[in-house]
Amino acid sequence: MQIEVFLNEEKVQADIHPDMMLLDFLRSMNLKSMKRGCDTGNCGLCTVWVDGKPVLSCGVPAARVQGAHITTLEGVQKEAEEFSQFLAAEGADQCGFCSPGLIMNVLALKKENPHPTEEEMKEYLAGNLCRCTGYQGQYRALARYFELEEVQ
Ligand code: FES
Ligand code: FES
Repeated sequence: MQIEVFLNEEKVQADIHPDMMLLDFLRSMNLKSMKRGCDTGNCGLCTVWVDGKPVLSCGVPAARVQGAHITTLEGVQKEAEEFSQFLAAEGADQCGFCSPGLIMNVLALKKENPHPTEEEMKEYLAGNLCRCTGYQGQYRALARYFELEEVQ
């Protein structure tokens, strides 16, 4: 089947299998920032935006995004770099596997709610898992980025 979407604001037409997932479609279009972690909607690694809202691309059929504007990390480089500086300053740089999904949700929260409370922030980002370190460094960076008091 044919679909037409806007990938990082570029109009694209593609022939896809009807049961292809958005994650596989995007990676087939040479966008590789989003990763496959759990493939069950539990880790956040595959997060992209559909019409400006974060979604887990492993759980969305590509056919469902017909006509939509899809944004991946490749499309928000400037904002991502700005946030990465906060992570680096706190020694909280993460691996290339989990960072893209976290950054897409952090930037989405910033757009939706530029000044979240600590609770709102933690709730919004609860679906982004890291399997190897803790979250304290990230929380320090997030506290500075969102101008919160120190986050526990
Ligand atoms: S790969 Fe999609 S949520 Fe884990
Ligand atoms: S730093 Fe990427 S999974 Fe932990």
